[in-house]
Amino acid sequence: MSKKRLSILISGRGSNMAAVADWFAQRALPVEIVQVVSNRPEAAGLAAAHQRGLKTEVVDHRDYPDRLAFDEAMAQVLHQACPDLVLMAGYMRIVSPGFCLAFAGRLLNIHPSLLPAYPGTQTHARVLADGVSVHGATVHAVTADLDQGPILAQAVIPVHPGDTPARLAERLLPMEHQLYPQAAAAVLSGVARLTPAGWQLGGTPAAGFESFVFQSRLLHPELSQRPIHATH
Ligand code: GRF
Repeated sequence: MSKKRLSILISGRGSNMAAVADWFAQRALPVEIVQVVSNRPEAAGLAAAHQRGLKTEVVDHRDYPDRLAFDEAMAQVLHQACPDLVLMAGYMRIVSPGFCLAFAGRLLNIHPSLLPAYPGTQTHARVLADGVSVHGATVHAVTADLDQGPILAQAVIPVHPGDTPARLAERLLPMEHQLYPQAAAAVLSGVARLTPAGWQLGGTPAAGFESFVFQSRLLHPELSQRPIHATH
C-alpha cells in the first residue's frame, strides 16, 4: 500500500511537528513524514525532528532578497519531496499568493485562536484584553488571505479569571497537539477535501485509513464536563 507523503514547515521549537510525528508513529496509518523544513537554522524543532529520525532541511529566508525569491526556493525544496500535504507548524512566515496556489488544497496551518476571531499575532493577550470566555486553535487551509482560509478543525478551551497569556498558551498547546495530527490525517485519507465551497467532509477513506475517525471539533475536558450556567 503506497504511503501518503507529509512535509512539515517549522520556524521554532516545533512542538506541533513533534506531536504530529509521534501521533502517526503510534498508529498504523500509511503516512510518511518525508521532510521537516525550517526557515531558521537555529530552530530547536530541527533537533526534535532529527531525534525522531526525520529528514531535516533548512531554507534560510535571510539568504534571499525578498519574499518571492524565498518562497520559490522553499517551494522547490518541497516539490522535490512530492508531498501530498504540507503542514505549517509554527512556521513564522507570511506566504505569497503564488506559494499558496502551488500547494492549493494541500497546505494547512494551525493558528492559536478561534478563527475568524483574532487573526495575526498576540492572540492570547488580545483574548484576555477583550474578556472573552472561550479561546482555542484552528486548523485551516492556507490561502492568500492571512489566517482566513477555509476552516477544517477547531479546539476550544475555557478562559479562567486571572489567566495570563502564558497560562492560556499552556492550556491550549496540548489541544493543538491532538487537533493537528487528526486534521492532517483527515486530508491525507481523503476524508476531508477542499472544494471551492470550503471543506467537504465524509469522503471515503483511502486504503489503510479505514480505522481513522476524524473529530473536527475538540473540547477541552473542562468544557465537555461542566454544565453551562447563566451567571447573574
Ligand atoms: C503554536 O501555538 C501554533 O498555534 C502557532 O505557533 C505555535 C507554534 O508552536 N502557529 P510550536 O513551534 O509548534 O511548538
